[in-house]
Amino acid sequence: MNSRPFFLMTDPACFDVSYRINPWMDPKGWTPAHAAAARAGSAALRAALEAAGAHVETIGAIRGLPDLVFPANAAVVLDGKVLPARFRHPERQGEEPIFRAVFQRLKARGLVSELVDLPEGLFHEGAGDAIWDADRRLFWCGHGPRSSKGAVAVIARTFGQETVALELATDQFYHLDTCFCPLAGGQVLYFPGAFTPEALATIRAQIPPHQRIEATDEEAAAFCVNAVNLGDRVIMARAPESLRRKLQAAGYALTEVDLDPFILSGGASYCMTLRLDRRSVPAAALPATTLPATTLHAAE
Ligand code: ARG
Repeated sequence: MNSRPFFLMTDPACFDVSYRINPWMDPKGWTPAHAAAARAGSAALRAALEAAGAHVETIGAIRGLPDLVFPANAAVVLDGKVLPARFRHPERQGEEPIFRAVFQRLKARGLVSELVDLPEGLFHEGAGDAIWDADRRLFWCGHGPRSSKGAVAVIARTFGQETVALELATDQFYHLDTCFCPLAGGQVLYFPGAFTPEALATIRAQIPPHQRIEATDEEAAAFCVNAVNLGDRVIMARAPESLRRKLQAAGYALTEVDLDPFILSGGASYCMTLRLDRRSVPAAALPATTLPATTLHAAE
């Protein structure tokens, strides 16, 4: 089984800012020049992921669904199981059947194994509000502005994993992935100003001081916490020098991509991707019985 990281992205051909469902979005400020820059930014992000060893597949664009470019919000995925999202805002609900069809096709190809339905009456916006921490083997779950608190227990049950609920306190940082990013090696990059006092106490109780990397207002507003991490590489929007220094001192290598048009919609690198290959137990730790069938036959 190949262990290359596998990401979905979406063709940005129909991306724009034409409605406002978070405070970053200003439809009046959107110009055709932004559309051209969005195509370049999306291509650069894809190239950065591929350069870091990842495989990327692209979902086709659909007119009238500009935020389809943020597939992190499509589902929570772990161990081949997919829990498709239910969006809070009507503006994004049209994405649900599109993403569902994508997951059905991935299932037919054997790339995911199962789709699970979120119970009625709950909202949940996918990997934007349920971030797998491979080091601690748990989901950090954001709730409040978009995802329902009740969805946290559904995630725990569906994936059979520990969850830690974190309530988000602001409209600016409305998904957990805008303000919280676990890194390989155990450090966590996060923006304290996004959380309720209780959530902040939870973070600080679970993560020792030497593993906390705090982002400033400026670094968080540059959408740099919304990063993709692969090993020691962190792929993010253009970073203030202060954050570059912090991450380099902690042993990480940065790839910066100009994602300004997407920041005008309230998103950047992490939410422009959805990772499909995550396993709760790393492949190296699996017992020998999971070796490919051909190997077992050879011994018979
Ligand atoms: N305009 C989109 C929205 O408000 C941006 C989503 C960004 N996604 C994320 N996971 N932060 O829903």
